[in-house]
Amino acid sequence: MRLVFLGPPGAGKGTQAAKVANHLGVPRISTGDILRRHVADGTELGRKAKGHMEAGGLVPDDLVIEMTRLRLRQPDAKGGFILDGFPRTIAQAEALAKLTPLDAVVNLFLEPEELIKRSTGRRVCPSCEAVYHIASNPPKKGGVCDRCQSALTTRPDDREPVIRKRIETYERQTAPLIKYYRDRGLLREVYASGLIEEIFLRVREVLK
Ligand code: AP5
Repeated sequence: MRLVFLGPPGAGKGTQAAKVANHLGVPRISTGDILRRHVADGTELGRKAKGHMEAGGLVPDDLVIEMTRLRLRQPDAKGGFILDGFPRTIAQAEALAKLTPLDAVVNLFLEPEELIKRSTGRRVCPSCEAVYHIASNPPKKGGVCDRCQSALTTRPDDREPVIRKRIETYERQTAPLIKYYRDRGLLREVYASGLIEEIFLRVREVLK
């Protein structure tokens, strides 16, 4: 299946996209993760992206479109994929339509205050990119990744003022994609409140 996961910051796109990708046996392609790797490696793209990401804005379309185009050409994406965090603008959606057809777009929606709680409590593994939450999805041993034992960190854009800015950016630039995909008959809406497993069941239901 060729899927897009859409939704505001902290809605649980990455969490659910990883579960669905595992279930379907397709890669999860997270533009946020790819960009963070570029920032950590100090590449030219990373240097251009860093300021936008830490300020809660979007990385310019041309950079993200080219990065995603190259990723979709990798052999593992031939049999399907889940795009997590792309597209985020109408221009990106139009570019994506020229690259590949889609089977569905899953839109996760959640109240803003809940989005803030999820993002402020998020902890990430800098080595294997596993994602935890201090209250709802804690690691077995405090501050340590279950999978690779690295020390967990907080994303630089998970400070509350930046989270609020990211939500504003989402409302202004990304939310118009809901209508865009609804008009094309691809949108599947999922309320993202509840336990991770409950939401996974809802997502699977709308994809049947
Ligand atoms: P990106 O990494 O994509 O961030 P985001 O869209 O802001 O989404 P998040 O990763 O914050 O949240 P999520 O919805 O994946 O939630 P998660 O599953 O982690 O992008 C970062 C930046 O990169 C952007 O701001 C932008 O600058 C740039 N960028 C990326 N793509 C771009 C593009 N296409 N164009 C331009 N710029 C781009 O869950 C959040 C927390 O909640 C976790 O701690 C999790 O454990 C917890 N949680 C999950 N589900 C539940 C649940 N059901 N109950 C309780 N807790 C839960």
